[in-house]
Amino acid sequence: MNINYSDKIPNNVNLANDRKLQRALEHWQPHFLKWWDEQGPKDFQSNDVYLRTAVGVDAKGWASYGHVKMPDYRWGIFLADQMQDRTIGFGDHFGEPVWQQVPGELRSQFRRIIVTQGDTEPASVEQQRLLGLTCPSLYDLRNLFQVNVEEGRHLWAMVYLLHCYFGRDGREEAEELLSRHSGDTDNPRILGTFNEPISDWLSFFMFTYFTDRDGKFQLKSLSESAFDPLARTCRFMLTEEAHHMFVGETGVGRVIKRCLEVMNELGSDDPTGVRENGAVDLVTIQKYLNFWFSSSLDLFGSEISSNAASSFASGIKGRPDEGRYEDHVCNDATYDIDTPEGTEQVNLRNAMNEVTREAYVKDCEIGIKRWNMMIKRAGFDVSLTLPSTRFHRTIGSWANVPTDPTGQAVSRSEFDTGIPSWLPTEEDRAFIRSLMQRVVEPGKMAGWIAPPDRGINNNPVDYEYVRLK
Ligand SMILES: [Fe+2]
Ligand SMILES: [Fe+2]
Repeated sequence: MNINYSDKIPNNVNLANDRKLQRALEHWQPHFLKWWDEQGPKDFQSNDVYLRTAVGVDAKGWASYGHVKMPDYRWGIFLADQMQDRTIGFGDHFGEPVWQQVPGELRSQFRRIIVTQGDTEPASVEQQRLLGLTCPSLYDLRNLFQVNVEEGRHLWAMVYLLHCYFGRDGREEAEELLSRHSGDTDNPRILGTFNEPISDWLSFFMFTYFTDRDGKFQLKSLSESAFDPLARTCRFMLTEEAHHMFVGETGVGRVIKRCLEVMNELGSDDPTGVRENGAVDLVTIQKYLNFWFSSSLDLFGSEISSNAASSFASGIKGRPDEGRYEDHVCNDATYDIDTPEGTEQVNLRNAMNEVTREAYVKDCEIGIKRWNMMIKRAGFDVSLTLPSTRFHRTIGSWANVPTDPTGQAVSRSEFDTGIPSWLPTEEDRAFIRSLMQRVVEPGKMAGWIAPPDRGINNNPVDYEYVRLK
């Protein structure tokens, strides 16, 4: 199914024949553009950026590339193709036909979950608003904007569901998605991580590696949903999400690569020496990693959760890759949860947040392994590690329990003393900020980051990804 570009809002949901929905979306669109102008990337709005735009929804060949000005980006509504005779894959309604409408009794739960997902999308654009000013290269600047426009489209995706299936309440929620702002004291974004400022590029790469990956797992769970339009919307969003995590993994990898080059020149892994040569030392990289990983873990919610159980039971949200499990009902199964009081055996349905979190942690480990391979190949006997999931948590059983990064319990004062060597200090952040100088000559890279192995869409690295004139 191809996307209809003749409409004001590109779509594959036959918007032209749904006047009511069309009116709601056309009313919302100028508000979105105003939000983009005020809260989206600072400057660069009149520059041509080499962006990919969705032009179809099949896994291969959905994207078209070309230079566009960001305000002219074709944000639209795209659902993955409907699967014939799809049945509910989990929970109490396992095996029944999927729903094309939201059942009345689940309306508020579905609305809450769509609003929470929708809120993260514009939040990340707001968090990243100033990064363009200090881009390490045109290539990176383009990748930032690609992520930003697609997060904007993910907002569209959720607003479509709100407008189409939740009537007046949905329209009100859609307006509020534009009125909450990341870090705003009076009206902040819903989830904590999305109120953390991203004022430097190391944080941006960590965010796209760890926090966008949380997004991937949330979308995977929602693409199992019994509510078919939600499942199809999320399935298509996943295809876009993959690039965001690519930006994170290769971004962190290039920071490490540059660090290793300096370490090799120096013949030592002394962090001070690395810093004096304008690169980011591995100790600092580890601290940023600890921060963004632990913060992203909180996004999965409490380990033991009756909410998660009811979402699973009622068909709202399955497990990521639900098809891989044998038991899709999970009525009698139990699960061991690690708590500060010891192992607690709970009903599997109540442990769904933890099941998802564990799948996420495994996925996070893949990049860490690749980065460690680079370090090893460069001849150094150090490695980066994911901290324990107990470490530095603010949600769930381990919230505010003092542990070191290995998960070992420590006293409150040991914790306070340890923090400066576990998480970025003000001094670390000031150092990282000092590296953030804008580099915009095609092909040139800031001194703290290695060039990418290849450019975007078979273009060379020194391609003019953003035309500044
Ligand atoms: Fe997103
Ligand atoms: Fe994303």
